[in-house]
Amino acid sequence: MAAVESGEPWRLAPHQLLDAFSDINICAPMVRYSKLPFRALVARYETHITTTPMILAEEFSRSHHARDADFTTNSEERGTFSLVPDQNRSEAKGKMDAVQVRGALVCQLAASRAKPFADASQLVSPFVDGVDLNCGCPQPWAYSEQIGSYLLRQPETVRDMIRAVKSRLGDGYCVSVKIRVDSDLSNTDTLVRNALHAGASLITIHGRTRTQASASHPVNLESVRFAVEAAQSCGLQTARGTANGDAWIVADGGAGGRVPTVVNGDIWTLDDAVNARVQTGARGAMSARGLLANPVSVPLTSGSFFWKLQYT
Ligand SMILES: Cc1cc2nc3c(=O)[nH]c(=O)nc-3n(C[C@H](O)[C@H](O)[C@H](O)COP(=O)(O)O)c2cc1C
Repeated sequence: MAAVESGEPWRLAPHQLLDAFSDINICAPMVRYSKLPFRALVARYETHITTTPMILAEEFSRSHHARDADFTTNSEERGTFSLVPDQNRSEAKGKMDAVQVRGALVCQLAASRAKPFADASQLVSPFVDGVDLNCGCPQPWAYSEQIGSYLLRQPETVRDMIRAVKSRLGDGYCVSVKIRVDSDLSNTDTLVRNALHAGASLITIHGRTRTQASASHPVNLESVRFAVEAAQSCGLQTARGTANGDAWIVADGGAGGRVPTVVNGDIWTLDDAVNARVQTGARGAMSARGLLANPVSVPLTSGSFFWKLQYT
């Protein structure tokens, strides 16, 4: 248990965090908002994984001006959390108390082709713990550029993009995909299966279709559950064997090594996060507008915000 004895927090990729620990909270990608200061803020209050705003891969890989404008980070922005591992593995059973774990940072990229996606991923990879492919942006300009929600019905393109990053950065590198559900769920099924067979490390599912606005359509947790079950039925175990250092003890924890899924949509409080996880079977919960409205909203419900105010 060298990492624990040395006092260094464990450093795990996003899919490993989701595999090893229940109740992982995630800050959604938000154009204009989920930049460094906001990410650093929510990371102080039990948001374990944070995500950059969507960055255009083509421009990012071509221009250092775009890189300077679109992405900043520092060594302080990730939080350190005290988490109790799920203990399914026999080595861990009954042995594990809470461990100190470093939060993770994900860079979300928008791309329509494999090469720019791989190029941008490679450039940003030294500074983040994983990259995410945007398959949900519903804006007309994005759709006509064949990025974002356009990809919801392009499973082969998504597959090729994931494969390109995996072959560039290695099988263990975290490549996630953030999707919306489709009005025809067979398209969601095909997309999820293609992504997973290409090696996707985790899938985030926003429970609205590309024509449903957040303001007027409540999230459809049933369709998220459908996507979660499609992912689980693939039986793929990308989390297994990819944990580093002492973290191998908790890898293949509660998720059984299965590729984890994350539910997104209308999560405003800790209770909403718990409810969404229970209703859909997803391992993690992602919030956008909830965190924007109140960056401490998740821990506020659990009382830990007050704990932190008193003791830090
Ligand atoms: C201001 C704002 C910016 C957003 N930018 C992005 C983005 O860059 N990439 C993305 O995948 N989704 C983006 N979204 C969608 C959110 O990540 C999320 O999927 C959606 O808001 C539903 O979650 P919520 O109900 O918790 O708000 C954005 C949402 C908001 C409100």
